[in-house]
Amino acid sequence: MKKVLFVASEGVPFIKTGGLADVVGSLPKELDKEYYDVRVMLPKYTCMKPEMQEKLKYMTHFYMSFNWGEEYVGIMEAEVDGIKYYFIDNEHYFGGFKPYGDNALFEIEKYAFFSKAALSVLPTIDFKPDVIHCHDWQTGLIPVYLKERFMGGNGYYWGIKTVMTIHNLKFQGKWGVDDVKSITGLGDEYFTADKLESYGNANLLKGGLVYADAITTVSDTYAEEIKTDFYGEGLNSLLNYRAWDLRGIVNGIDYEEFNPEKDPYIEHPYNAVNFRKEKIKNKRALQKQLNLAQDDKKFMIGIVSRLTDQKGFDLIAYVMDELCQDDVQIVVLGTGEERYENMFRHFDWKYADKVSANIFYSEDLSHKIYASCDAFLMPSLFEPCGLSQLMSLRYGTVPIVRETGGLKDTVQPYNEYESTGTGFSFANYNAHEMLRTIRYAEDIYYNKKREWNKIVDRGMAADFSWKASAGKYQEMYDWLIGY
Ligand code: ADP
Ligand code: GLC
Repeated sequence: MKKVLFVASEGVPFIKTGGLADVVGSLPKELDKEYYDVRVMLPKYTCMKPEMQEKLKYMTHFYMSFNWGEEYVGIMEAEVDGIKYYFIDNEHYFGGFKPYGDNALFEIEKYAFFSKAALSVLPTIDFKPDVIHCHDWQTGLIPVYLKERFMGGNGYYWGIKTVMTIHNLKFQGKWGVDDVKSITGLGDEYFTADKLESYGNANLLKGGLVYADAITTVSDTYAEEIKTDFYGEGLNSLLNYRAWDLRGIVNGIDYEEFNPEKDPYIEHPYNAVNFRKEKIKNKRALQKQLNLAQDDKKFMIGIVSRLTDQKGFDLIAYVMDELCQDDVQIVVLGTGEERYENMFRHFDWKYADKVSANIFYSEDLSHKIYASCDAFLMPSLFEPCGLSQLMSLRYGTVPIVRETGGLKDTVQPYNEYESTGTGFSFANYNAHEMLRTIRYAEDIYYNKKREWNKIVDRGMAADFSWKASAGKYQEMYDWLIGY
């Protein structure tokens, strides 16, 4: 049995702020149980839903020296869908109202603690992984600590390999060197340009990328993009240097959880055969729920997203008024930057029966939107993979995306001459190019409904389950461990 430990800052069904949680919650279940014992380690956040907290069982605790003191490390465990989870408990670090706070220095200290604790608990939980699979900057110190501190100790840690997966290169865990030196207990020699230092700061993700045995990111295109200046976020030279160890493996989604036939959040189940008749019932229900004009024919565009620059909201803001002149309905679910939250609230007020702005987080409404809309808009500036467009495809909702990262790899643009394609896309980060593309989609929807339905057919037939990608992770683990 090969043993793999996922360590991450969020994971479904316990805690989620974005796609990272979906991946951490779904990929382990898809790895072959006969050969891989995969477990997951997360922080025990106080803000976790009470019904999930109840599933956690106390195992033990100890004190660990960290940041000039002795810190409590509680260990809890749970099992969901046959996967074993471990939780690191410490209320000082994980006690906030949200998993992530606004104080950057505290965030660094919190996840430095988490990374050190994740390694420290291994002998106690009696699970020595062959591979520790680290996700994003919050776990970047694990490969560093493992090689520079833990392996030198009693031999328990020898031979453990590490993988660093980049879900979003924008977030790196950066802060002044002196503070990070003091928090991590790592000496001057680690804060050099070939290790944790980057443009004068300490950089936790960079540490992970330098020290990990293998690096992955969540789509092929993003794996290429991050080697360039534009997408490389200052780490492109390092990623070029490590190009042989860097793989792109596209994300999948949980086909059980996201299944229009069995989804408990939607009122009218449907499938690839009967969507022409049944899907519309969900649209009617949503129009009613959100006080939009009751009209089966209206072209309904959905958005479910963190409201940040990454997702292309400045393009939307730029042409929103123009778009609202069209025969469309726009349903938004998201939270994030205030200017985008207010922009959507404003248009909701201005065009009450056309625009519905839902500025909050809701699992329930998100599923309803995927199941009800005709199209899903995601014009991202950059997109490592993107899961929302995969959910849309699965629910027969046609994605309209910019050709970047995983969006480019997963949405095949409609070609009217060959009758191929699963969605609509545009290349340049330009608001009117986006608007033209949306209008092209509107035209097909209103004037060539049979063509539109064939796009839906192809989208629903595409397979974005984890099957293929889980195999690629397994190959990588095998290669790291030795067959
Ligand atoms: P990212 O991880 O960059 O936010 P992804 O497309 O990979 O983007 O994943 C986003 C995930 O978060 C999807 O599962 C999406 O449905 C969900 N999501 C985003 N915002 C909300 C919200 N306000 N309410 C419910 N789910 C949301
Ligand atoms: C990040 C990316 C998103 C990706 C997700 C899961 O949040 O922004 O594109 O799908 O991680 O890998």
